[in-house]
Amino acid sequence: MIVPNLKEAMKRSRENAKVQTINYILEENLKGIALGKHYFIKTYGCQMNEHDSENIKAILEELGFTEIDCMEEADFILLNTCAIRENAHNKVFGFLGRIKNIKEKRPDVIAGISGCMAQEEVVVNEILEKYNYIDLVFGTHNIHRLPQLIQSILNKRESQIEVFSKEGDIIENMPFKRDSKYKAWVNIMYGCDKFCTYCIVPYTRGKQRSRRKEAILSEVKSLKEQGYKEVTLLGQNVNAYGKDLEENYRMEDLLFDVSKTGIERIRFVTSHPWDFTDKMIDVISKCDNIMPYIHLPLQSGSNAILKRMGRRYTKEDYLNLFHKLKEKIPNVAITTDIIVGFPNETEEDFEETLQVVEMCKYDSAFTFIFSPRVGTPAANMEDTILKEVKEERLQRLNERINYYSKCANEAYKGKIVKVLIEGISEKDETKVMGYTETMKLVNVKADKEKIGSIINVKITDVKTWSMDGEEV
Ligand code: 5AD
Ligand code: SF4
Repeated sequence: MIVPNLKEAMKRSRENAKVQTINYILEENLKGIALGKHYFIKTYGCQMNEHDSENIKAILEELGFTEIDCMEEADFILLNTCAIRENAHNKVFGFLGRIKNIKEKRPDVIAGISGCMAQEEVVVNEILEKYNYIDLVFGTHNIHRLPQLIQSILNKRESQIEVFSKEGDIIENMPFKRDSKYKAWVNIMYGCDKFCTYCIVPYTRGKQRSRRKEAILSEVKSLKEQGYKEVTLLGQNVNAYGKDLEENYRMEDLLFDVSKTGIERIRFVTSHPWDFTDKMIDVISKCDNIMPYIHLPLQSGSNAILKRMGRRYTKEDYLNLFHKLKEKIPNVAITTDIIVGFPNETEEDFEETLQVVEMCKYDSAFTFIFSPRVGTPAANMEDTILKEVKEERLQRLNERINYYSKCANEAYKGKIVKVLIEGISEKDETKVMGYTETMKLVNVKADKEKIGSIINVKITDVKTWSMDGEEV
């Protein structure tokens, strides 16, 4: 049993050379050990977690498992969890009741927890104390160890807990069962060293480690050969890509080289305003296949709050960058993340955030009420703001965000835009759906055969969250 340790997870060393790249290889004797068995995975959280689930699924299928939609019939149930806010936590603990019922009827079912919550010392302690029917807990640094862990459970019927608190090597050659045949996630870095005071990610995902450019470029080339149209370069703070590598090769260099592969669409998430360089802006503006869509988290518009959040920029720095992006990248769409109710956020602080929203008129935004996370500095800050006040601020903020989302969409009415058609529309089965270059969801009147192609679409109607259009 290897349980997580918060103190270990907080540590950072300067020994970059120690981060090695090793290749994942599945030992012959493990292939097919679960033939005939079924797995069910429920994924919470961000794109990184979605992509980890694609990795976990592929590993399970190498072991012989097949995926199943009905949890009640699965032999292995896995919750790949998120720790970013309390409600993500509560959802998982709420769901465990359903797994307990299944285990009572079918004790042989393997119940597992992975992902960011598995990295938290408090969570694993709670699982050990109160949820003893959980058979498997593995962390974000232990995915490549899944075959051995499953083998031990199948052979010994003994529960397995393996959570490395310290990030290890970069594992290459991992298999993925991708959700889409047209767009793919590509990890470019793991972990984060920014330590914003509210954020648990540096503890759950470890030190920043960039993948080697050769590995990233060969993955993108192979995806292109397989017919993929779009890649999204993934990392907690992609703009800091390469800072931990010995060679002088940064995000702008990577973007340029990925662009040269000729893949049709390139996106990247998430950007921290601190590391967004002029060189990056140059590359984005001159490469047609880098999409004009940037997610640029603001978090707060008050300098006092930004300072306490440890964000390393001021409102003025942020606005400068924002306007530079708008000016240099034609037709760019910019979205953001905002937290309200940070400890002792005053009405004036909040109004400054609203003012930035009025200035930036975001294409859309994810908005959250601050949620204290155990082990982070902000969780220990004094906070006298009432819950009702925070909720009311969130509502006021959302009202403005929605207003500007609709305004941004209005500008598309009557225009012809390129849409990568991904599948059947959820709203209307006679239509297909996809995203514009600027990441706007469009429901399109077009033939189903267009799924997987980039087509020209005339926008006929717009709503707050989506647009309607027809192929032209
Ligand atoms: N409470 C509320 N929101 C948070 N986020 C990160 N940590 C917290 C927290 N403790 C938000 C930030 C981040 C997004 C992914 O989640 O806005 O950009
Ligand atoms: Fe993703 Fe962060 Fe949630 Fe982990 S805690 S799943 S990195 S959003």
